[in-house]
Amino acid sequence: RNHRIAVVPGDGIGPEVIDASLEVLAAAETAFGFGTELTRVEAGARHYLRTGELWTPELEEQLRGHDAVLFGAMGDPAVQPGVLERGFILAMRKAFQQAVNLRPVKLYEGVATPIAGLTPERCDLVIVRENTEGAYVGRGSTVHAGTPYAVAVQESVNTRPGIERVVDYSFRLAQQRRKKLTLCHKKNILVEAGNLWQDTVDEVGRRYPDVEVDYVHVDAMCFHLPVAPERFDVVVTDNLFGDIITDLGAVIQGGLGVAASANLNLDGSAPSMFEAIHGSAPDIAGRGWANPVGAVLSTAMCLASLGEREAALAIEAAAVHVLAGLPQLSGPGMGMDTAGVGKEIASLVGAGLP
Ligand code: NAI
Ligand code: MG
Repeated sequence: RNHRIAVVPGDGIGPEVIDASLEVLAAAETAFGFGTELTRVEAGARHYLRTGELWTPELEEQLRGHDAVLFGAMGDPAVQPGVLERGFILAMRKAFQQAVNLRPVKLYEGVATPIAGLTPERCDLVIVRENTEGAYVGRGSTVHAGTPYAVAVQESVNTRPGIERVVDYSFRLAQQRRKKLTLCHKKNILVEAGNLWQDTVDEVGRRYPDVEVDYVHVDAMCFHLPVAPERFDVVVTDNLFGDIITDLGAVIQGGLGVAASANLNLDGSAPSMFEAIHGSAPDIAGRGWANPVGAVLSTAMCLASLGEREAALAIEAAAVHVLAGLPQLSGPGMGMDTAGVGKEIASLVGAGLP
């Protein structure tokens, strides 16, 4: 088994957490007997400021030839906010039809959560966010701009095939888990989109009679998620609501340093992309203070999607073990630097399960 993986370290702490992840990946290759062919791609703030290039047809062609993309983070104080994120990350999601944004929300043993009394057994769910449509299609217009009568219209586009593919994916995921699917929307107010989502869930659900279906409004979700996460197994939602509730999920599971994600292409036409959910953290970049576990767990998700399930489980177990031993989740109080955490996880993976 040989996997061709493109690596985009990007900006700030991106290269730091990616280097730690590659160390873990190398240990997993030796321990589990598979190979990788890594292509390191220069992209991000420095490249953009030098060349003006972000997502080019050449880069798209180059990346398309890979089985997966590992992504660090992008964003830099020297570049106008949003330029790199929209110009690169959103462009990739769209070009590669990464229809699903997968966000496990799992509280690991020994990780401090701000939710009093919450235990790991009660917090193990997955949020499936639609990743290409909704309010993030960037359609809209403003009339009478700059006047006291300005009106801004921002459209949300929801298509039956776009919804159906994430809903079907969510049902299949629920079948492999605790067999419960919750639709999260605001269908009492956003009636057009809400009805299409609910109808699609109802119809697709007939193919999965063993999965229990539930519905929760997004505002109520912001209440239930921190207070009773055990209520949820798989949550499916649209692009905007998903963006918001996944950040809430990250808080519940102990912060940005530990949260992982996958941007999945479902039809095999292009690679999927895997990234920690944090950004480039310019405030701590270059100091070795970043926690690489989110990136390492994203690498495990990458391997799982490439069929290396055992390696993925071993990496997760090793990362969780090391995480539990850290006095603090980031900064100088972490007890070791970013690279040190990577090495520790790598050595556990190399030695078999912790
Ligand atoms: P951020 O996620 O980079 O940082 C937020 C806070 O969390 C900072 O205090 C940072 O030090 C801390 N933090 C983040 N990751 C950490 C880790 N692994 N270990 C320890 N502490 C960590 O979000 P922020 O500051 O809003 O954005 C910084 C830049 O990143 C901006 O340019 C933003 O647009 C970009 N960004 C990029 C994303 C991506 O590449 N997918 C996602 C989010 C933001
Ligand atoms: Mg977000």
